[in-house]
Amino acid sequence: MTGKPDLLMIGSVTDRMMARLTAEFTVHPLFDQPDEARFLADHGAAISAVLTNGHDGLRPDLMAALPNLKIVSSYGVGYDAIDATAAAERGIVVTHTPNVLNDEVANTALLLWFAVSRRLVPNDAYVRAGRWENEGNTPLTHSVQSRMVGIVGLGRIGQAIADRLAVFDSTVLYHARSPKNVSYRYYANLTEMAADSDVLICITPGGPETKHLINKPVIDALGPDGILVNVSRGSVVDETAMVEALKDGRLGGAGLDVFDQEPRVPADLLAMDNVVLQPHVGSATHETRQAMGDLTCDNLSQWLKDGTTVTPVPE
Ligand code: DGY
Repeated sequence: MTGKPDLLMIGSVTDRMMARLTAEFTVHPLFDQPDEARFLADHGAAISAVLTNGHDGLRPDLMAALPNLKIVSSYGVGYDAIDATAAAERGIVVTHTPNVLNDEVANTALLLWFAVSRRLVPNDAYVRAGRWENEGNTPLTHSVQSRMVGIVGLGRIGQAIADRLAVFDSTVLYHARSPKNVSYRYYANLTEMAADSDVLICITPGGPETKHLINKPVIDALGPDGILVNVSRGSVVDETAMVEALKDGRLGGAGLDVFDQEPRVPADLLAMDNVVLQPHVGSATHETRQAMGDLTCDNLSQWLKDGTTVTPVPE
């Protein structure tokens, strides 16, 4: 017996995080348990803390098997894979890692747009194949300067994207549940915003409220010259409608960091040269991931110290 509280760890963590966690908790990695049901029967009642991430979240059956759970600290800003309402009803505090990844994810959004718009990937393949522009086979692209950019979800990351766009002399449009106190052009109707946009950047939280927000009418409104960028959650985009539109040329291109059934990527996308695909790495730099790890641990440490947390999820 160490006398330390018991923490269930879902998904692996860095050595730096592990050093902090083991100093304060008895850590039980779920993925190391050969028999999960046996482990939960033996230890479930002792677990007071869970450490997870935005992808794994916390399965409802797992939450139910932890009767004395008090805190879920999630590594990542999105917490759509955790039932925060059910947790609140049980008095369980859920924390996440906002702010520290705003710049990184905003940069990823622009990176994806620019890569699609300027054909970075096909041009790279072209050069690697020993070819050159004066063969006349590299189509001209559209400028990323002075564009109409529609941001879906003007939260902290959406704002960081908008801030960057000033440098590109862009007109920022946004869709959110209600207008905000900003100078950008607000659209209550997402389809209307898509019709006015050259690029649509999706950075709204996932979950039932935003499922398939980007549907066929929105995609059709964006049109054959439009580019869709998704750095939020795959569920926000109707993937079937998007793939069909890309196949038919009704949508110009897509830059995708997230997918509906990760790690499954629709096979049709793999053959398209007007899409850029990333394995959900919007925040994946040494600097940002370290800051996220530190904040994940800070939430647990502060909770141990005085029962409060640094960044609880909004009520
Ligand atoms: C986040 O922080 O939400 C990332 O998308 C990882 O889930």
